[in-house]
Amino acid sequence: MTGKGGFQHYKFEVPEIIFGRGLLRQVGSCARRLGGKQVFLVSDQGVFKAGWVDLAIKSLHESGLNVVYFDQITPNPKDYEIESGFREYVAKGADVIVGLGGGSAMDAAKGIAILSANGGRIGDYRGSDKIHRPIPPLVLCPTTCGTGSDVSQFAVINDTEQLCKFTIMSRCIAPDISLTDPETLLTLPQHHVGSTAVDALAHAIEAYFSIAASSLTDVNALQALTLLAKSYVRAVREHRIEDLEDLSRASLHAGMAFSNALLGIGHALSHPIGGLYDVNHGDVNAILLPEVVKYDYPVVTEKIAGLLNALGCELKGNEEFAEEMTVSVIENLLDAGGSPRGLRTLGVREEDLNKLAELALQDVCVLTSPRQTDAEDLLGILKRSF
Ligand SMILES: [Fe+2]
Repeated sequence: MTGKGGFQHYKFEVPEIIFGRGLLRQVGSCARRLGGKQVFLVSDQGVFKAGWVDLAIKSLHESGLNVVYFDQITPNPKDYEIESGFREYVAKGADVIVGLGGGSAMDAAKGIAILSANGGRIGDYRGSDKIHRPIPPLVLCPTTCGTGSDVSQFAVINDTEQLCKFTIMSRCIAPDISLTDPETLLTLPQHHVGSTAVDALAHAIEAYFSIAASSLTDVNALQALTLLAKSYVRAVREHRIEDLEDLSRASLHAGMAFSNALLGIGHALSHPIGGLYDVNHGDVNAILLPEVVKYDYPVVTEKIAGLLNALGCELKGNEEFAEEMTVSVIENLLDAGGSPRGLRTLGVREEDLNKLAELALQDVCVLTSPRQTDAEDLLGILKRSF
């Protein structure tokens, strides 16, 4: 953030990061050196079927640890799933948590960790800095390429009574270790490779535009964009490990950027949509992103040359078409990777748009939007994205 004299003051925090092909086999030694004996492993049935849960359990056993396996997690993890995981954690006397999967499994692992140290209901911790006691040791291993939850200070949980998502933001919930094995992407279905990578695209752009961006977050956001421009489309089409590894790295860089710079109105809008309809988070972001960029554009013009350069475009000589270029390079990337167009294709109802705009205005991500917004403007973005 820029201070009164034009100086910047910021913090930049990331967990220990371990990244490389085949390194999921080291999850046991990671959990052991954090002092655990009884590991609570949170994953989901898709990751289990792909064989990664067995590999992780083998590694944990080889490190002399006991394992309690919990997989009662669905996409857009629900408050009651977190609370049932917490009861299981306590009943089994676990003392370290490993989250293995996409954003849902990792955010669920964070939620269980919060309750195990602080008690209460998970909804008690919505918002910023509500967690007072440190959580148990936590290792997060992403098996998708967009969430960034493995490096972030956020968890997003579905409130099943209010039918909305809420964000928990606290430095306390960044894990001790982020362990990424890009080989796990080899078993991820093509659509999920695409939809999680565009979530990383949205993270990078929203973090880059954020009023809390710094030189440290910008360098990570731009690196994520460079990797996505280079490898996203080919990774979706051909599923080669070299390209998938680039997407894993893009997710990591975008995660470091948005965990520290936070996000903007794209995610403020996508959270209530995910809460109301239980739809794919990456698909929602992909649909909203072009209109979000158009909306933010007038207040981020000084950052556009950097954005275009990272995406492989030269602004020099094309300054008068800068806005069109920016939007079309993003739309072309989304289209080439097969992202959906139009919120209506996800089942969003036109009569809900007003309510969604009002809910988005309450989302914590609005606070770092580069352009001050209101419900009317947010409704306009929803209508143009419909
Ligand atoms: Fe996201």
